[in-house]
Amino acid sequence: MVDDNDDEDDGILRGVPGTNLSGLYGRPFLRLDTLLDLESGDVLAPLHEEICTAFAQLPVDYTGGSHRSMGIMPPSQRGSAVVDYGEVLAALNDEQWARFTALADDPTEFAHLTAKPGGRADIGEERQAPLSRRQMLWLKVRHGVYFPWKAYIELIPNRRWIDKANPAGKRFTRNARQFFPLTTAFVEQLPFTAIGRCNLMGLEANDWGTVHRDGDPQDQDRPDEFITLYPVQNKRLFVWDEGHQQKHIVQGAAAVWFNDFDHHGVEAAPFFRYSLRVDGVFTDAFRARLASSFA
Ligand SMILES: [Fe+2]
Repeated sequence: MVDDNDDEDDGILRGVPGTNLSGLYGRPFLRLDTLLDLESGDVLAPLHEEICTAFAQLPVDYTGGSHRSMGIMPPSQRGSAVVDYGEVLAALNDEQWARFTALADDPTEFAHLTAKPGGRADIGEERQAPLSRRQMLWLKVRHGVYFPWKAYIELIPNRRWIDKANPAGKRFTRNARQFFPLTTAFVEQLPFTAIGRCNLMGLEANDWGTVHRDGDPQDQDRPDEFITLYPVQNKRLFVWDEGHQQKHIVQGAAAVWFNDFDHHGVEAAPFFRYSLRVDGVFTDAFRARLASSFA
């Protein structure tokens, strides 16, 4: 008899032996260079030139900065978030709150949050009221908030995290089409049936990506599908095993998929580095190739 769930039960979330990680197919992360034909570096080199030239010309946003108050950091790493804007916002007095909301791109979005109990928790990245560039700078300069990713560019903006695989109503921005023609064309040929989010995540020299996870493994039947690309392999992402206090560092990979319900972070380095992340729904053919390569 054929079990309809055979496709779903391919052991992708069987856990990583000797760790507390969920992983993918028993590994802390999957290196995708071969599956995506990126081994030679010829494909990504022109993208790197394009991306660097665009970084030099475009305004960038910040992201991160509230992982601790979101409750998504492991206990041993919470101190590394330094000053968290969720905690700062919760403690603002009325005068400071008025100053903060006046710096919004759309102050009306904040008006009803002011009246709502706990409303300030709905502020920030991929939540109801995104921070404006001015608010981010004020939080950094006035309150010392640490934003790990200070060179963040959304090529396909996504308003809410849970919609990151949903393409409805989304498209590449005008800036993405104008400044990233090679990159957008490359992203469009990746093995997704739908893309709901695409962004560049850059860290300034000496900054680090705070360790966090993007969901609870207990809530997960299938891992969230995405590909992270490293046109130059100088950004050291790691998957963090809190139970064993151990990093599993991604080194030298051009493309990776990891289980973002496992904790993960980025090591500090004395130079700028970035990655390109694409979230969506993999094609069945790519899922089959992943299973045959790694299961
Ligand atoms: Fe994450």
